[in-house]
Amino acid sequence: MGSASPPALPWALALLLALGLRGPEARAHRALDPDFRESYFEQFLDHFNFERFGNKTFPQRFLVSEKFWKRGEGPLFFYTGNEGDVWAFANNSGFILELAAQQAALVVFAEHRYYGKSLPFGEQSTQRGHMELLTVEQALADFARLLQALRRDLGAQDVPAVAFGGSYGGMLSAYMRMKYPHLVAGALAASAPVVLAAGLGDAHQFFRDVSADFEGQGPKCAQGVRDAFRQIKDLFLQGAYDAVSRAFGLCQPLSGWKDLVQLFGFARNAFTVLAMMDYPYPTDFLGRLPANPVQVACDRLLNESGRIEGLRALAGLVYNSSGAQPCYDIYLQYRACADPTGCGLGPDARAWDYQACTEMNLAFSSNNVTDLFPELPFTEEQRQQYCLRTWGVWPRRDWLHTSFGGADPEKPECFHPGGHHPRGSPPPGPQSIPPGRPRVRPGSAPAGGHVHPPVGRGSQAGAVDTARHLDGRGAWPQLGPEGSGHPLEPWLREGALAGPTGDKGVDL
Ligand SMILES: *[C@@H]1O[C@H](CO)[C@@H](O)[C@H](O)[C@H]1NC(C)=O
Ligand SMILES: *[C@@H]1O[C@H](CO)[C@@H](O)[C@H](O)[C@H]1NC(C)=O
Ligand SMILES: *[C@@H]1O[C@H](CO)[C@@H](O)[C@H](O)[C@H]1NC(C)=O
Ligand SMILES: *[C@@H]1O[C@H](CO)[C@@H](O)[C@H](O)[C@H]1NC(C)=O
Ligand SMILES: *[C@@H]1O[C@H](CO)[C@@H](O)[C@H](O)[C@H]1NC(C)=O
Repeated sequence: MGSASPPALPWALALLLALGLRGPEARAHRALDPDFRESYFEQFLDHFNFERFGNKTFPQRFLVSEKFWKRGEGPLFFYTGNEGDVWAFANNSGFILELAAQQAALVVFAEHRYYGKSLPFGEQSTQRGHMELLTVEQALADFARLLQALRRDLGAQDVPAVAFGGSYGGMLSAYMRMKYPHLVAGALAASAPVVLAAGLGDAHQFFRDVSADFEGQGPKCAQGVRDAFRQIKDLFLQGAYDAVSRAFGLCQPLSGWKDLVQLFGFARNAFTVLAMMDYPYPTDFLGRLPANPVQVACDRLLNESGRIEGLRALAGLVYNSSGAQPCYDIYLQYRACADPTGCGLGPDARAWDYQACTEMNLAFSSNNVTDLFPELPFTEEQRQQYCLRTWGVWPRRDWLHTSFGGADPEKPECFHPGGHHPRGSPPPGPQSIPPGRPRVRPGSAPAGGHVHPPVGRGSQAGAVDTARHLDGRGAWPQLGPEGSGHPLEPWLREGALAGPTGDKGVDL
């Protein structure tokens, strides 16, 4: 991902936001240098077939920190890696380190197969024809084997392990607890879109939630967005391709319907990124973003005399943060994929695209009715066609739900931090914290906070909760002054984590 062309937002980023430590707090956590040691584990290529790949293995990357660990006693915190470079998560999850320091825990960050450097077939791994070993089930089996081996090698056989993760990684940590309860005593799944990815959500929810963030800035902003898209479409229909291209600053002029759709996708993705990154302080992840970028975006939009120019300026927050982009290359800077909320660019993006073509159901649409964006449908049929064409695979819409469930709000074994959710909707769930245990107030705003909901991929209903979903941050500011500790803390202290079998009713 070149700095000149900020990519679309990969899901991985949602985690970094959920466990967001990019603000002032981040500096505080850096004091807790974990001294991660990077290693590789000889991992079976295929856990579920004894013949095709036999004993063949690939090197799976993982990071270990023993810095805080009280050997043989402290728990093991096992981070179930997401769709990206494991260092990106380790570098941005100060909350886990803070908790590890408190609990004298051993910390492991495991990389997900097919991402970062954990490539089953080397550089070719994300080329068509080499993707067959990329499944959620294989990834979980990797984590299970690695966890077993580390317990043995580090003398941690009898200490309880807790799985951690956010976003897709949160799904994985919840699934770890479900599929391997003898290995992990509990799981913390932050912003895990278990229901949504199982295909049980509403296809319009995601962009409705993105829109809500901008509508929260006032009716002018929302109308401005609608007007900009309408003007582009009207000019296009009149054949004024050059006028659109000039006003929006395109490198190549539009030449037909396909380009218009790409332009709409490119622009819509800027809103997705801004909504997800809507922190009250500046962030510096995919280029710099100012504090409260949604508000800044609306200011930019309304500040220009023309609406299309305004939309161009708004998109510049995401695609021209360096100010060095003379024009937008809408095909290079944004790639449409099987995840309409963005896959990003590069090999990790290809792997995620494949996952969105197989087990993960992310067929979301915008409709220009319940959201501010042009009608850009991505139906199950379109997904099928795209996936057949791109990867030669048929999505199996029901499989994730069949394999892991997804809609059981009383699932007792995982702690799903509340985070934020759209106004008027039920709290995000599954939130099954046993009675009497501390509880995150769902939807509460962080200190000094904002009231409109941010957007991400967390809630039960569908898509929502990240930018201000600051669950992963050290001090849990949303708990207010009376709740300065982390909700997990007393559980660990109380010995809620009985042991690796979780037989004392471990209810993390
Ligand atoms: C497969 O692995 C087992 C156990 O590690 C080993 O004993 C055996 O020799 C291996 N077989 C081959 C063909 O590598
Ligand atoms: C993580 O942090 C290390 C040390 O600060 C740095 O060298 C590395 O580039 C970072 N990696 C990522 C992916 O953020
Ligand atoms: C959105 O809907 C409005 C009202 O029906 C319509 O005027 C406008 O052209 C639509 N915008 C786009 C981009 O299609
Ligand atoms: C709005 O436009 C004025 C004049 O062009 C400029 O000085 C100001 O910085 C702009 N504000 C924003 C938020 O872009
Ligand atoms: C990117 O920012 C620079 C500096 O503000 C500006 O001159 C340029 O027109 C912007 N690019 C686009 C495509 O708007």
